[in-house]
Amino acid sequence: MQVVRGKRLSVTDDLTTPILPGTAASDYERYLRTEELLALQKTPEERRHDDELTFQVVHQASELLMKGVVHEIERARERLGQGNFADCARLLRRANLMLDYPIQLLHVLETITPYDYQIIRAGLGHGSGLDSPGFSGLLHIAPRLGDVFFGQLKEAGLTVNDLYRRHAELFGLHDVAECMLDFDERVQAFRFHHLKLAQRIIGGFVSGTMGTPVEVLRQRQEHVFYKPLWDVRNEITQAASGDEGSQLGHGRQY
Ligand code: HEM
Repeated sequence: MQVVRGKRLSVTDDLTTPILPGTAASDYERYLRTEELLALQKTPEERRHDDELTFQVVHQASELLMKGVVHEIERARERLGQGNFADCARLLRRANLMLDYPIQLLHVLETITPYDYQIIRAGLGHGSGLDSPGFSGLLHIAPRLGDVFFGQLKEAGLTVNDLYRRHAELFGLHDVAECMLDFDERVQAFRFHHLKLAQRIIGGFVSGTMGTPVEVLRQRQEHVFYKPLWDVRNEITQAASGDEGSQLGHGRQY
C-alpha cells in the first residue's frame, strides 16, 4: 500500500480507470473535452479543399488563445485596481506570452496558395475576422486596462514621465507600464503580420469577405492603445538632446 496525495492506494486501485464525469475513455479526454473539441472541424467529406482543416484549426486555436489573453488581462486589470502591481505584471506577462501564438499561427496560413485559398474562401459566406470574438475582446479590454493604469498614476500625482524617471523607486508600476507596452506592441504585430498575410493571399488592393478593403487593415495597424507610454520616449530623448532630439527618432509617429 502507498499514499498518493493523502489518499491510501491499494494494489487493486486502477489509475487508468477514469473517475471524472463523462463518457470518454480517459480522464484526460473527459477533462479537456477532446471529443467535442476535435469534432469542431469539418469532416474530410465536408471540406472544399484539403488545406481547409489547417485554415479552421489556425482560426479556432487563435480564438481559444485570445479568449485566454482577454481573461488574463481582465484579471490583471483587477489586480492593478487593487494596487497589486507585481501580480498584475505577472498576469500581463502570461497574456503577452499567449498572444505570441496567434501571431505565429498567421505564418502557417502563408503556406496556402492564392488559388487554393479562393476555393476555401468560396465557402466562408460573409465570415470575417471583423467578427472575431477573441479580437473584439482584446479591443474591448485593452482601453479598460489603460483607464485603470492612468487612474493609478493620477491618484499618485505622477506623470508618465515621472514614472519613467523614477523607475527604480516606482519599479512595480513601471513594470506594469512596460508589460502594457509589450501588449500594445503585440496587437500591432498581430495586425502587421495579418496585413501581410492578407496581401500575400488575396492582395493589397481588394476587399475582404465583409467588404473591408485590405488598405483599411494597413491603416488600423498603426493604432496604439497606450499612446502616452510611447510618447514619453520622445520626451525623454528630446529632453536629453535638446531640440536635436526630435531628429533622432526612427519611427514616423512614436
Ligand atoms: C488566409 C487568411 C486570412 C485572410 C486572407 C484574411 C483577410 C482579412 C480581411 C480582408 C479582413 C478585412 C475584413 C473583411 O473581411 O472584409 C480581415 C479582418 C480580420 N481578420 Fe483576417 N484574414 C485571414 C486570416 C485571419 C486569421 C488566422 C485571424 C485570426 C483570428 C484573422 C483575424 C482577423 C481580424 C481580427 C480582423 C479584423 C482586423 C482589425 O480590426 O484590424 N484573420 N481579414
